[in-house]
Amino acid sequence: MIRWLLGHDTPALNEAEICTPAERADGQRFRHPGRRRQWLLGRATAKTLILRHVRESGRPIEDPRRLSILTAGSGTPRVILDDTELPLSLSISHSGDTALCAVCQRERGRLGVDIERVEPRSAAFASDYFTRRELELAESLDREGRDFALTLFWCAKEAVLKALGTGLGRDPREVEVLALPASGNDPARSLPVKLADRPAPAVCCGRLEGMACAMAVLPERCH
Ligand SMILES: CC(C)(COP(=O)(O)OP(=O)(O)OC[C@H]1O[C@@H](n2cnc3c(N)ncnc32)[C@H](O)[C@@H]1OP(=O)(O)O)[C@@H](O)C(=O)NCCC(=O)NCCS
Repeated sequence: MIRWLLGHDTPALNEAEICTPAERADGQRFRHPGRRRQWLLGRATAKTLILRHVRESGRPIEDPRRLSILTAGSGTPRVILDDTELPLSLSISHSGDTALCAVCQRERGRLGVDIERVEPRSAAFASDYFTRRELELAESLDREGRDFALTLFWCAKEAVLKALGTGLGRDPREVEVLALPASGNDPARSLPVKLADRPAPAVCCGRLEGMACAMAVLPERCH
C-alpha cells in the first residue's frame, strides 16, 4: 500500500519537538530560512505519515524523535527508527507552505512525488526540459490548459527522477509524457510515461488545492 499526505505550515511547527539532533545537524545545510522551514515542514509531514504507516502495520510509535529522516548522498530521503534503517521508500516535495509526502514498503517499489504551483513556463524553459511530443500535446490546449499540462508534465518528470534517485542529475527529457491525462475531476489520474532505458514507471497525477502534483512508482528490481 502507498500512503500519501499533504502538510501545511503552521506557527506551531517546532523543530525541537519534531527532529532528532542528527536531523537538526542535517538541516544546518540550508542557509535560507524559508528553505529551512520547508525542510522542517517536509520532516513533520513525513513523520506524521510514517507514524501512521508503522502504526497500521502493528508497530505503534508515539514520539516523532524516534525517527530520523536523513538524506543519502544523492539526496534521497532515508528513514531511521532509533538506530535501524526501515525498509521504506519515502519521497518529499515542497511548494510554498505546503509539503507532499508519500511512503510505501521498499519491496512495493521506489517512490517519487512532486508538487508545483501552476504557472506559465517560458519558451526557454519549455525547450530545455520538454520533448517535441510533450510540447505538441500542450499546444493542443488553450492557455490555461497548457500552463496546467506543462506544470503537470514537469511534476511527472521530477517524480520519476526522484524515484530513480538521480533528481535533476539526469536530463528531464529522458522522462517523456506520452499523452494528456484523461479529463475529469478524479485527483489521481494515470499518466503514460516513457523512460529512456528502463521499464515504464507507473505515474499518477492531478490537482491538489489548485497545485499540480504527480507520484511515480518504479519497480524495486530497477535499482
Ligand atoms: C530533487 C530535485 C529534483 C528537487 O527539486 P525541487 O522541485 O527543487 O524540490 P522539491 O521540494 O520538489 O523536492 C525536494 C526534496 O526532494 C528530495 N530529493 C532531493 N534529491 C533527491 C534525489 N536525488 N532523489 C530523490 N529525492 C531527492 C529531498 O527529500 C528534498 O527535500 P528535503 O531536502 O527537504 O529533504 C532537485 O533538487 C535535484 O535534482 N537535486 C539534486 C541534484 C542537483 O542538485 N543537481 C543540480 C544540477 S542540475
